[in-house]
Amino acid sequence: MNEKLEKAFNDQINAEFYSEYLYLSMFAYFERANLKGFSNWMNVQMQEEHAHAMGMFNYVHERGGKVTLKQIDTPPADWASVVEVFEEVLKHEKLVTSKINALMDVAEEANDRAAISFLDWYLKEQVEEEANVSNVLKTLKQICDAPQCIYMFDKELAARTFVAPVIG
Ligand code: FEO
Repeated sequence: MNEKLEKAFNDQINAEFYSEYLYLSMFAYFERANLKGFSNWMNVQMQEEHAHAMGMFNYVHERGGKVTLKQIDTPPADWASVVEVFEEVLKHEKLVTSKINALMDVAEEANDRAAISFLDWYLKEQVEEEANVSNVLKTLKQICDAPQCIYMFDKELAARTFVAPVIG
């Protein structure tokens, strides 16, 4: 891959690791709140982000490129409510979608068809991620404003499990 595309992949690897770090911080927030289902949901989300980062890490190597790791920003540690956490997740996933779109633009500019095809998986994954988070947020905002409901919903989110994605 060309130099510009390699740099763009490295930037995205950093963004995926930041996502992992952000969800790890949210995982810690829910652990402190003793909401084990929500913390499980974040644990799964965190592992997915790790898989996204490693998918690109492996791909850059597969293409004979160089992975250059950079500093990961410090994520926030506190939120005002469960709803605020998921509002931030949705905002963050929309930002990630725009970053993947920008990365796709660089691959298209380079006319790198292999990279375009590889990145297709990530674009589809973003549609799924935004939909998942929107659904949680919808339940929290429209149905679930009483503490008892948060408790019930917490039990439901405890069922989410991590399935290693097959990327590419
Ligand atoms: Fe790797 Fe949630 O985007």
